[in-house]
Amino acid sequence: MKSPRSFYQPLAIGAPQPLRDAPVRVERMIHFVPAHLEKVRAKAGEMAKTVDVILGNLEDAIPADAKEAARKGFIEMGQKFDFGSTGLWTRINCLNSPWALDDITEIVAAIGDKLDVMMLPKVEGPWDIHYLDQLLAQLEARHGVKKPIMIHAILETAEGVKNVDQIALASPRMHGMSLGPADLAASRAMKTTRVGGGHPEYKVISDPAEGQARTSVQQDLWHYTIAKMVDACQSAGIKSFYGPFGDIADEAACEVQFRNAFLMGCAGAWSLHPSQVAIAKRVFSPDPKEVAFAKRILDAMPDGSGVVMIDGKMQDDATWKQAKVIVDLARQVAAKDAEYKALYGF
Ligand code: GLV
Ligand code: MG
Repeated sequence: MKSPRSFYQPLAIGAPQPLRDAPVRVERMIHFVPAHLEKVRAKAGEMAKTVDVILGNLEDAIPADAKEAARKGFIEMGQKFDFGSTGLWTRINCLNSPWALDDITEIVAAIGDKLDVMMLPKVEGPWDIHYLDQLLAQLEARHGVKKPIMIHAILETAEGVKNVDQIALASPRMHGMSLGPADLAASRAMKTTRVGGGHPEYKVISDPAEGQARTSVQQDLWHYTIAKMVDACQSAGIKSFYGPFGDIADEAACEVQFRNAFLMGCAGAWSLHPSQVAIAKRVFSPDPKEVAFAKRILDAMPDGSGVVMIDGKMQDDATWKQAKVIVDLARQVAAKDAEYKALYGF
């Protein structure tokens, strides 16, 4: 384990000072763009105005013969548009692929100062983060990049889940983590053929009772992993995200999956299609009614201690802290999104 002092030293002479606190940004949806497609790329500047994060995808879903076009397309997109307060991210290919090294070196050389976050797929343990951390520091130093590029890990292998606590703590560059349910299902030998969401056969059934039909309810396949990821991330001071929901037409199921993740502590989710942007926005912006109630708790306990009753419900230091999570998030959302500012009445 590194000493606390060296943990915050730059890993290369001339690389920017690692951040002690991650920048506070609203990241309700990470919108995936297949950067090898010129038509999609051309709209990236407009798209960026409607999302919190725009991500050039270079990994899965990009055909092998389009990997270089996707990298070049992403660089072109990064150079051409001003993304304003919208985050600019990329998902590079995984470290054992033939493309990862060129993804990292070419992107940092060309748009290192514009890139906020590099998403690293199939992270197995802290060693993957250490490798990228060191390489990014060398490249930042070589190309005079002024602010550190952050790393976002995808949690999508059984080994990664086993090592999630160490991954979260591996570097001051860690921005956060996303659940990758499709690769994780394969890695765990789950018997599914889906990208996220539930399965009708993963359920509980009530005991038999005389004269009554047995009721059955589908369960959440991802509950355990999301909980484990949220605890690893929150305790390390980084953010957690639900990843992709592949059944684009099933908006109701997508919304429920996103909302479960939100309620359990996640900050956002991936959007794979414009229709999922609206869902993520709705889900990951706190509900105005909850915000109004949370504000009442804060107003009733100005110094955050004691006990009060509001609408018959006991409020104390712990509910005050919960209320503060919601109101702080609502203020961040309001600062970015005029529609929600009006809804919250800030
Ligand atoms: C995402 O990359 C996934 O595998 O679900
Ligand atoms: Mg994956």
